[in-house]
Amino acid sequence: MSLAIICSGGDAPGMNPAIKKFVDYVYEKGETPYFVFNGLDGLIDGQISPAKHKDVAGIVHRGGAIIRSSRSKRFYEYEYRKKAYENLRKHDISGLVMLGGDGSFRAMDRLSSEFELNFVGIPTTIDNDIYGTDTCIGVDTALNVIRDALDKIRDTASTFSRAFVVEVMGRECGYLAAVSAITSGAEICLIPEAEFNKSVALKHLKKEIAEGRNYILSIVSEGTKMTAELARWLEKEIGMETRITVLGHIQRGGSPTVNDRMLAFEFTVRAVDHLLGSKNSNKVMVIEHGRYGMREIEEVVERKYRIDPELLGMLNLLD
Ligand code: F6P
Repeated sequence: MSLAIICSGGDAPGMNPAIKKFVDYVYEKGETPYFVFNGLDGLIDGQISPAKHKDVAGIVHRGGAIIRSSRSKRFYEYEYRKKAYENLRKHDISGLVMLGGDGSFRAMDRLSSEFELNFVGIPTTIDNDIYGTDTCIGVDTALNVIRDALDKIRDTASTFSRAFVVEVMGRECGYLAAVSAITSGAEICLIPEAEFNKSVALKHLKKEIAEGRNYILSIVSEGTKMTAELARWLEKEIGMETRITVLGHIQRGGSPTVNDRMLAFEFTVRAVDHLLGSKNSNKVMVIEHGRYGMREIEEVVERKYRIDPELLGMLNLLD
């Protein structure tokens, strides 16, 4: 039996440990592992080849993905999806593991409604915005990259008596911003899921400044689009010199943390086991309250991820 692995959409640290485990485990099971290179664009173009142990030697600590990834525009068109499916058939691939996010799973849901597929998606995105799973591969590493950056920014902010507005990734999901603000003790956190009450924040910050606070650390989730506005507000209303730091794509890189490596291994082994015992099954791996499981792909793509209200409750929203 031949099984293939593909990465799709934004890369995330932990893809390489998953790829390594996939190759090693498929061989252990006596089957043949394949790589699909360059994401869904590569699948359309037939960039598929057998994987060898040597291909995955020494990659477990590396960020990114050795088989690369893409966001395929062509996959929106039926003729290209058909080509992609035919390429899987050509190599006699009877199960596909995809490391990807919401958009990639939506693409696979579409493909599985048109063709007979045996597919398991593994939630892999720093954004942590996938319905039905508490976390995704890459989230923990991204949070640690952000923590490291915030610790450094706090050093300079406190020395220079400045306010900092730090923008973090996450698309429409404020998870990265919320957890980073909680664990770094930021004074302000703006996320798409919660209102920012300016007048309450103003009162609170002015009181703290009167009591001796000389710097402010604020985290803004990119989805709010309020980075520049908050910086202007801090300068005007609080009267503190303000700087903006957009962390950007450094959040997607770096050596995967122990947690992300373990998550990658656990998800991958379960995904392979499932594919070896199934036909025409289209699932997404999940972890909920520490327990591994699977959900139907339609459910995952149709429903919306919501941040745990308990986590939001821990956030200092200043309201
Ligand atoms: O989905 C991952 C992510 O890094 C988002 O947090 C961010 O909005 C987006 O991808 C950036 O996309 P690109 O790599 O195309 O700039």
